[in-house]
Amino acid sequence: MAGPLRVGLVGVGQRGLQHVQALTDMQNDEIIQITALADPYPENLEESKISKYVDGFSPAGIQMFDSADGMIESGLVDAIWFVIPPNQHRGEIERAAEREIAIFAEKPQSLFLDDIISQDAAITRAGVPSTVGFQMRHDRGYTDIAAYLEDKWVAAMTMIAEGAVEGHGVKHTRTEEQGGPANRVWTANRAWSGTSVVEAGIHQTDIMRYWSHDDVEWVRATYTERPKELHATEGDNPIAYTVTYGMKKGGVANLLFTKPARSYYGGRFDCIIHTHGTIKLEDDFVDYTFEDEWPPAQNPGIDQVRKVISPGPHTTAMGRESTRAIGQAFATSIVENKPENRLNSFHSSINSLASVLAANVSNDLGGEKIVINEFIHDDKYAKYRKNPKR
Ligand SMILES: NC(=O)c1ccc[n+]([C@@H]2O[C@H](COP(=O)([O-])OP(=O)(O)OC[C@H]3O[C@@H](n4cnc5c(N)ncnc54)[C@H](O)[C@@H]3O)[C@@H](O)[C@H]2O)c1
Repeated sequence: MAGPLRVGLVGVGQRGLQHVQALTDMQNDEIIQITALADPYPENLEESKISKYVDGFSPAGIQMFDSADGMIESGLVDAIWFVIPPNQHRGEIERAAEREIAIFAEKPQSLFLDDIISQDAAITRAGVPSTVGFQMRHDRGYTDIAAYLEDKWVAAMTMIAEGAVEGHGVKHTRTEEQGGPANRVWTANRAWSGTSVVEAGIHQTDIMRYWSHDDVEWVRATYTERPKELHATEGDNPIAYTVTYGMKKGGVANLLFTKPARSYYGGRFDCIIHTHGTIKLEDDFVDYTFEDEWPPAQNPGIDQVRKVISPGPHTTAMGRESTRAIGQAFATSIVENKPENRLNSFHSSINSLASVLAANVSNDLGGEKIVINEFIHDDKYAKYRKNPKR
């Protein structure tokens, strides 16, 4: 490839601006060139607005478009970062792939499996590079855990993600013009977000797959619905989600995800159990495991079994560093033709997305066990896969 990779970004909103920051930093390091931005709302493309969020932003050399299609047809981009709400996709990913443009798709790639299968088919047919925005895979500490577990069997994982309604940001899409929430907090709205497990819990779902080197085979889920009288003020997504995943290699993963209002609380708990150890995310990431001859004459003290597998301090795996890392990994993997550095592809990520969408279906069906393969292929789930608008 002559010159740096030419990158376009579609959807200059909350997440898009974080990517524009990472891309600007990468452009300064001569890794890529930003050649195009697209957004239907002119205010989102104004230099003054973007500069409020992006240090060092300059529109020089960037063509602005009011739609993805203008960018796709322009011949100006080798790769596109798609960063639009999941219910707004209208075949743009497919059309970009047909034009042999590499695809970085923010999660969730759509709220409907039929759309995702169509996007995947176009990407596979064209053979273009692809990745999905699971940036936690590119965090140093999380990668250390995955490497450590490569030769071990993960029996159980539990992640508790305690959030709050107030943690939802005011977004940049004019939802009020499309029958969506008047306050633009679309992540609190079911029709726009697909539930918080789909919109956000998909990160935890995906990282549990990454750590365990495994895929989800089935899911059972029970949600605690938010009382109807609170929907107008707090959004109509559930207050709490209890999701259990059966993994293909036989382990079980639990995801507890909470979104009450008025708590203003954020917290988390992570625990990974493998055959002979318990991994905890302390200041260091640690495996509690006894590695000498077993059983010992006397039980060891806890310090004797504490083994650091990734020294701290660790920053948030969802922050600026991992956003830069996933963008850079994608860009350089294309230039250097090293697909393994992407750590996922659109196709391999379908298991994460299908799992959270199937969690919704399980909850709707009273906690029924949904086998992911059947959810993707069987006629009995066809109505749950279909996008009513397409
Ligand atoms: N990986 C992460 O950590 C992370 C974090 C936040 C959001 N996201 C994901 O990023 C995506 C965008 O979320 P957001 O928070 O930036 O929302 P947002 O509403 O703030 O931004 C979306 C932007 O896309 C634009 N847009 C809407 N429809 C469009 C279309 N058809 N064509 C072009 N542009 C369009 C909007 O005008 C807006 O500027 C979602 O899929 C979300 O789940 C990922």
